[in-house]
Amino acid sequence: MATEDDYTAQPFVPDRGGLTALRKAAADCHGCPLHRDATRTVFGAGKASARVMLVGEQPGDQEDRRGEPFVGPAGRLLDRALAEAGVDPADAYVTNAVKHFKFTRTEPRKRRIHKAPTLREAAACGPWLAAELDRVKPELIVVLGATAGKALLGSAFRVTRVRGTVLEEEIHGHPERLVPTVHPSAVLRSDDRDAAYQGLLSDLKVAARALS
Ligand code: URA
Ligand code: SF4
Repeated sequence: MATEDDYTAQPFVPDRGGLTALRKAAADCHGCPLHRDATRTVFGAGKASARVMLVGEQPGDQEDRRGEPFVGPAGRLLDRALAEAGVDPADAYVTNAVKHFKFTRTEPRKRRIHKAPTLREAAACGPWLAAELDRVKPELIVVLGATAGKALLGSAFRVTRVRGTVLEEEIHGHPERLVPTVHPSAVLRSDDRDAAYQGLLSDLKVAARALS
């Protein structure tokens, strides 16, 4: 039986073709068990010419139903913050560290509640993110929260230590500039939403300045 160490998207990732070819191939990824319960693969969205890549955790309930990243409540908050920070949506490619929704069902109404992916699942899905970086070649990566940070920068990543700073790191053999911040869902869950939103906004302004 396959163990978690065997999980990987690599055999499903085409080494040729652009984003459209990647998106098409990702629809059939069986690189880890998350494809079994989710409705569909939610691949990144945006143009190959995008200057900034935003990396979230994984699709949520609405993203799973609609097949697009960040179209639910977290996405609406992110869109508002990006607009306010001065990041042009046409310049942004939006994706997730993990491309299938992971959830548990709650009794009695059987609502689907988001469940965080494991590091192994994020590592399994990493080849898709690497392929997106290779095709888009963004000038800057905005890291939204701990799962994306660990997927890109390793398990020692701590968002509180590095948020709002421009990091320069080698990722999959390429030098990249990254600005980490909190996940927009963390803002929605915060006891002090206004303060949390202002924190996200000030980090995104750092990203906007790094792009200008
Ligand atoms: N949260 C994420 O991390 N990604 C999405 O696409 C939606 C919610
Ligand atoms: Fe493939 Fe990623 Fe989905 Fe797992 S989560 S099946 S690795 S696309």
